[in-house]
Amino acid sequence: METLRIDGRVVLVTGAASGIGNEIARACVREGAVVHLADASEAVHTAAEQLAGAGSGTAVPHRCDVTDPEAVRGLVEGVVAASGRLDVAFLNAGLNGVPAPLQPGGAIDELPFSSWRRVMDVNLDGLFHCLQQCARVMKEQRSGSIVATASTAGLRAEPRVSYPYVVSKAAVVGLVRQAALELARFGVRVNALAPGPVVTNIGGTGPRPAASVAAWEDSVPMRRWGRPADVTGLALLLASDASSWMTGGTHVVDGGASALTQVLSDALPAPDAGDR
Ligand SMILES: NC(=O)c1ccc[n+]([C@@H]2O[C@H](COP(=O)([O-])OP(=O)(O)OC[C@H]3O[C@@H](n4cnc5c(N)ncnc54)[C@H](O)[C@@H]3O)[C@@H](O)[C@H]2O)c1
Repeated sequence: METLRIDGRVVLVTGAASGIGNEIARACVREGAVVHLADASEAVHTAAEQLAGAGSGTAVPHRCDVTDPEAVRGLVEGVVAASGRLDVAFLNAGLNGVPAPLQPGGAIDELPFSSWRRVMDVNLDGLFHCLQQCARVMKEQRSGSIVATASTAGLRAEPRVSYPYVVSKAAVVGLVRQAALELARFGVRVNALAPGPVVTNIGGTGPRPAASVAAWEDSVPMRRWGRPADVTGLALLLASDASSWMTGGTHVVDGGASALTQVLSDALPAPDAGDR
């Protein structure tokens, strides 16, 4: 389908050294785009090398920490200097690494403010810095598609995920709506994709506890975790002209997880009445 094509488009992907961002970058190279991979990790250089033969597109690495506004400004200016424009920005860099409410140190009255800030810094403030710089270029161009990575954890309360992660992802949904509203008249679209549980390095590189893996699996009607490649179809749609009347939306890709009303007993203990 002609409108799904993105060959020749200039694409930026943040958080591209690993997981979902890396797979989106791979899909864009496969489809013939000029792809700029950005990541705080040095591994972005190897990631770009590995994508070199993935298709007819090209892969250019950039080391950039999205929490540093000047670095983000330099990144986006560098992309435009090298490729002449910026058509698509996947603003995907994110992390968690903070205990969930029922884990030690994760309850609201125990959570260190530094943990809250660390996640907010990347997932929300980092997105803000990237959105600001990309919007500046795309407004001037009078075209562009910005796709932020939210999460199904931002669409409802989620006892298995930390406070700052859930709240940062809920904020991503709001930021995307607000930016879509402002940027529509400039021909710039802003959407979010909201994946369910996907096997990546976000939970660490070691093996996950089997009980936790199984519990997440049970909350997905399709009864399996997602793979990064499960997200790329939606990503390519949002990048391409096939979604030219889509903006301001958050689109789930989660094996049906958000369609299910979860049985709370699996994730939350019974009420503790205490001494009354
Ligand atoms: N894996 C899931 O289950 C899942 C579900 C929903 C949403 N997400 C979101 O998907 C996105 C990608 O995560 P992933 O699961 O692929 O994890 P991942 O850890 O495999 O990849 C995240 C990448 O972001 C990079 N990164 C982290 N902090 C950064 C910073 N300050 N500046 C630049 N790069 C930075 C990391 O180096 C890493 O390469 C995140 O926004 C995450 O919140 C993941």
